Amino acid sequence: MNSFIIRGNFLESKNPNQFSIAENSYLSVTNGISQGISPVIPERYQGLPLIDFDDRMILPGMTDLHVHAPQFAFRGLGMDMELLDWLNTYAFPEEAKYIDLSYATKAYQGFVASLLHSTTTRAAIFGTVHVPATLTLMDELERSGLRTCVGKVNMDRNCPDEVRERDVETALRETEQWIQAAKSRFVHTRPIITPRFIPACSDALLAGLKSLQRRFDLPIQSHLSENLGEIEWVRSLHPEATCYGDAYERFGLFGGENPCIMAHCVHSGDEELELIHRNGVFIAHSPESNINLSSGVAPVSRYLELGLHVGLASDVAGGSNISLLQAMMHAIQASKLRWRLLDSGVRPLTLEQAFYLATVGGGAFFGKVGRFQEGYEFDAVVLDDSSLFHPQPLNLRSRLERAVYLADDRNITAKFVAGQRLF
Ligand code: GUN
Ligand code: FE
Repeated sequence: MNSFIIRGNFLESKNPNQFSIAENSYLSVTNGISQGISPVIPERYQGLPLIDFDDRMILPGMTDLHVHAPQFAFRGLGMDMELLDWLNTYAFPEEAKYIDLSYATKAYQGFVASLLHSTTTRAAIFGTVHVPATLTLMDELERSGLRTCVGKVNMDRNCPDEVRERDVETALRETEQWIQAAKSRFVHTRPIITPRFIPACSDALLAGLKSLQRRFDLPIQSHLSENLGEIEWVRSLHPEATCYGDAYERFGLFGGENPCIMAHCVHSGDEELELIHRNGVFIAHSPESNINLSSGVAPVSRYLELGLHVGLASDVAGGSNISLLQAMMHAIQASKLRWRLLDSGVRPLTLEQAFYLATVGGGAFFGKVGRFQEGYEFDAVVLDDSSLFHPQPLNLRSRLERAVYLADDRNITAKFVAGQRLF
C-alpha cells in the first residue's frame, strides 16, 4: 500500500540557497515514505509498480502556513482598505454567514476543491467561531486527503456580536466540545488552538485557551505584528507587554514546548525576533496580503539569515490567490521593492529561497515534510509545463522559474500526500 516508484525530473531544496536537481531519475516510496532518489531503480524495489511522469517536473508538495477558509468566498473583493477597516467591513460580515450551515457547506466545498487542485499538500487553516461550520470544513478536508491543522477561531471582544463568543465560559465549553469531536472524527485534520489576535481576545479567554491547549496537547496559531494600526492598538490594550509577542507569551501561547505559527511578523522588532527564535515559533509570510492590506513587507531574507522558521502563506482573503506558486512570485517581487525603496540592507529573495519557504520552511511544521530525502513523507506535485511555450529547451531551474510565474492549476498533472495519490 502506498509503495511505488516514480520517474521524472525532481527538484527540491538542498538548503535555503541551493536546489537539488535530479533529472530523469527514480524515487522509491514505501508505505508513503520516500526512500530517496536514484539514477536507476534500486535492486530491492524492482518489484514495485512504476509511475512514469516522463519529462514532467516533480516538486515536493507545498505548505500553506496560514489561510482563512471562510474568506475564500470573497477573495479578490474589498481590497481598498487597511487591515482593521477591512476586517470590520468585509471579513467579519462574511464570517458571520457561517452560522448558516448550508452556506458554510457550500462555501467550504468550494474552498477545499480549490485547495485540492493547487500545489498545496498541507495547510494551517482558520475557520470561524462557529463549531458546526468548522467541523463541516474539517469533514471536507479529511475527505480530500490533504493534511491540515484547522482552528475554530476564538474571539470575544472588539468585534460584531455575530462573530463574538457569547461569554468566556461558553467559548471554552464549545471549544472543548469541538476538540473532542475533531479528535474522534478525523485522522489527518487536526485541531489547532486559534485565538484570532490579541485585540479580539480577552485575558480570560487566552488563559482558558492555554489550559485547553495543555490538556489536549495542541499546536497554536494566530497573527502577529502585521499592520501598524494593529500594533499600536495592541500597545494601548496591553501596556504591560514588552512587545506584541510578549502579550501571547504571558499566557503561554507563543511556542516554546508547543508548535506555534504566527502569521505576518512584518514589523517585529529585535526583542520580538529574539522571542520567536527562542520559542521556535514559525513565521507565516504572506506577501500578497501584506501588500493588499497596506501592512508592509516582512524582511524575510533576514529571518532566514537569523535561522528562524519561516514558511509561505496565502492568507486568503488578505491574499486573493490560494496558489503558493503565486505566493512565491509575490514574495520575490515584494522583497525587491522593499530592498529598493526601504532598506538595501535586507537582500531580495531568490527563487531558491522562495521555493525553500514554500516547501521545507512550512513543511517542517508538519514534521519530515517538504523534501524527497529518505525518511520524508512523500508529498509531491507533478507539473506539466509543456503548455508554457519556449522556442528552445530550458534547463530545469529555468523551467521551475517559469512555472512559478506562469503556471496555474491546469499545469498540475498529479498530486501525492504521504504517498497517497489524490489525482
Ligand atoms: N488579523 C486578525 N484577523 C485577521 C484576518 O482575518 N486576516 C488578516 N490578514 N489579519 C488578521
Ligand atoms: Fe490571516
